[in-house]
Order: sequence, then C-alpha cells, then structure tokens
Amino acid sequence: MERMQSTNGKRQAILMLFAEWGGMHTGAWRAPGSPDDPTTDFEVCKQMVQTAERGKFHGFFIADAMGLQHDMSPDGLSGSARSGVRFEPMTLATALATQTRDIGVLLTASTTYNAPYTVARQFASLDRLTGGRAGWNVVTSANPQEAANFGLGERMDHALRYERATEFFEICEGLWDSFDDDAFERDKESGRFFDPAKMHRLDYGGEYFKVAGPLNLPRPLQGHPVIAQAGSSGPGRAFASRFAELVYTMPMDLPKAREFYADLKQQAEGHDRDPDQIKIMPSLSLVVAPTESEAQERLAAYDELVPPRTGIELLSALLEMDLSDYELDGPVPEIPETELGAKTRQKFFLDKARREGLTIRQLMQQSSRTGAIAGSPETIADRIEEWLANDAADGFNLGFADPLHSLTNFVDLVVPELQRRGIFRDEYAEGTLRDNLGLPRPASRYAAVAR
Ligand SMILES: Cc1cc2nc3c(=O)[nH]c(=O)nc-3n(C[C@H](O)[C@H](O)[C@H](O)COP(=O)(O)O)c2cc1C
Repeated sequence: MERMQSTNGKRQAILMLFAEWGGMHTGAWRAPGSPDDPTTDFEVCKQMVQTAERGKFHGFFIADAMGLQHDMSPDGLSGSARSGVRFEPMTLATALATQTRDIGVLLTASTTYNAPYTVARQFASLDRLTGGRAGWNVVTSANPQEAANFGLGERMDHALRYERATEFFEICEGLWDSFDDDAFERDKESGRFFDPAKMHRLDYGGEYFKVAGPLNLPRPLQGHPVIAQAGSSGPGRAFASRFAELVYTMPMDLPKAREFYADLKQQAEGHDRDPDQIKIMPSLSLVVAPTESEAQERLAAYDELVPPRTGIELLSALLEMDLSDYELDGPVPEIPETELGAKTRQKFFLDKARREGLTIRQLMQQSSRTGAIAGSPETIADRIEEWLANDAADGFNLGFADPLHSLTNFVDLVVPELQRRGIFRDEYAEGTLRDNLGLPRPASRYAAVAR
C-alpha cells in the first residue's frame, strides 16, 4: 500500500474524532450553548459524528470503561459530564453507523472482561453491517471499578492482563478466518450454501482460553476489522507493535511524541511489519474559534465553569495529594514527587504551578482542560503540520474541549486550511476503512494452504 502522501510529498493526516460526548474540558458541559444532555442524547452523538463525516474524518472512536470513574467521591463525580455515564459502545456504534455512510466506526472492547468468541462475533457483525467500516480499540482495562463490577475483588495484574490479551487477540484473528473469503456459494441450483472445505475449526487451547470455532459468520469484509490500541508500558507497546494498526497515545510534547513514534515503528519492524502499516495517532484536544482571542476567551470561560468540588478531586488524584482542606485561592503547597504511574503529569503540573505562581483554583482549572489547547484555525493547522512533518504523528485522535462548538469550527475552518496546505484529503476513498487508511486487507491464515 502507498504511503499516505499527497502529490506535494507531504504526509497526509489521518483524522479521528475522539468522541468524548460531554467534551474534554470538565467545565464545558455547563457553557451556554452546550447541549442539555451531551452524553446520552442520541441526537447529540449523531450530530457530532455527522459533523466529523462532513469534515472527511477517517473515523470516530468511542472510548469506554465499564463503570464510573473510580477515583472520585459521589459528590465529585456529580459535577462531571465525564463521570463514566455513557452508552454501551457496541450498541451506540451500531446505531451511529446507520446514520453515516463513509466514516470509520471504532470502539473499545476489553480483553479482560469479555469472551473472545463474543467480541470476534460482534466486530465481524459490525464490519459487515457497516460495509467494512469497523475498528476495535483493544484495551486490557485498568480501572479497579471495572474489576468490582465483574465479581473480581482486585484488578488483574498488569502483565497477566497483557498475556491474556495476546491469547484473546490471537483467537479473534483465528475466528475471523473461520470461513475463506469465497466460502459462501449460496448456490440455489446445487443446494450448497457454503463449501465445507472452506470452513476451518480453530481448536485453540491456551492458558486462559479454549475455543473450538469456527465463528458462525463469514469473514469480515475488511478481512479483520482495523485494530487500534494505546499501550504505553513495555508490554503495552509490545502488544501494539505486534498487532495494532492505529496506535493512540497522549504525549506531553513533541520530543516525547517523536520518541514514541520511532520506538513503535522500530518495534513493528522487529515483528516483520512494514512500519507504514502502523499509524501513530497522538491525541490533540482543542478549543477552536475564528480568532486566537476568541478561542482563548472560550477556554477561560470553560475554566471558570469547573465545579470546584469536582475539580479539586481530579487535581488531588493527579497530584496524589488530598487538597480538599486547602484554601482554594491560596498557593499550591509543597507536594513530594511520587514514583507512581502519573509521575510525568504530576511533575508537569507541579512545575507549572511553581513557574507561574498559580493558586490551587488556577491549577485546578488548568488540569481540568485534559490537555486542551485553544487556537485560531492557522495556529491549530500549524501544530498539526509541525507534528506530521517531524515524524511525531501519522494523524491525530482529535478530542474537543466542548461537545459540539469546537468540532464544528474545526470542520468549517481548520479542515479547509489543512486541505489548502496539502496535508489532508478532499474526499473519502471508495471502499473500506482500510482503503481509507492505506492499510492492506489481511490474507486469511488458511489462504496459502487453500491456493
Ligand atoms: C487516547 C487513548 C484512549 C484510550 N482509551 C481507553 C478506553 O477507551 N478504555 C480503556 O480502558 N483504556 C483506554 N486507554 C488506556 C490504554 O488502553 C492503556 O491502558 C494506557 O495507555 C496505559 O498503557 P498500558 O496498558 O501499556 O499500561 C486509552 C489510552 C489513550 C492514550
């Protein structure tokens, strides 16, 4: 497959809508003009994906956890549109697919709290129902609340989760190949619906799963659905470099993004994969307005709308220190840097507070942005172009600070600017999501034997 390059030799961006229905900014759901119910009103979800499709986005991606956000009190949760209250993603994705034509339909499913046969069957169904637009974001589920919702006292150990994920994924791949592409003859004359020689049992026996197969569906239109994954740890990156075709990541800055990009491409080559076939997709969270000052004003307005109880709990979790008894407009106290996983983000915000002399309220507001940056169409296009040109990204997983406003501005103002610069396509390609992403259709594991 050809690289995603335009005739001017520049890399063409892949654009994915990171569909956080309530907005990435904790305060934005309260803004005048934000929808009354941004998270469970189908009309809002529909309007968002249809807007993304109007902007020729490659896909929309539904994140998921099977429980509420775990590290907050009911009081803290109650002020957030991002508490985890959301539709079950396969149901929602299927409904949204019927309201769109070209855009890819990607969603999250966990390898820790599902059975592989069910997931393989769901994605094979979705792929056929969408005419080849399905994608699976493979997650191992880190939220302890999810473990509790599935009868487990404790979350499964990280390394075990990835071992289980590897078996789970191998089974899904095998099940998708249960029937050869041309197995179904449906020949009324002879009375043969499918050719039995083109049906394959799997008989997988692993440490975690035993699955006989075959899957009771034809091969997905795309061969296999497109695979996305967002591991950042050693085992997470190893999994992504073997299996993922889109890799989601949230780097703090350009050097870190370049390091991640180079590492994943190199690890993929180590698995005999073409590095062009693993697309690195950093997240970018945006407030977009016609001018720089309007965008900054909007961001500041969202900051003011963060409910303090919610914001302080989120900040306390981020800094790993309970700040609820401190004066909101007082200085940020001395906080020891910890060794835990959030260390880089903790350090980023502590350094920022010290450097800029921020109060607790100001730091709370800034951390509630979930990394959102505000800008004019030109500034945002500059940022996208810089990362594409510097081997930091093949595309972007685009979140928006507010439910609809910034996405609409992005589609109306930034997309034409990217197209003018020759770094984004003008139209959908005919065919499947794979065709649109420049990814090959995987051959069946039985193809070599059969031909
Ligand atoms: C952009 C992005 C989206 C993610 N979406 C989900 C999700 O929907 N559900 C989930 O459980 N985890 C999600 N994750 C978490 C990752 O699957 C992964 O667990 C995390 O990046 C930590 O990496 P590790 O698993 O290698 O430790 C996401 C991560 C990123 C960066």
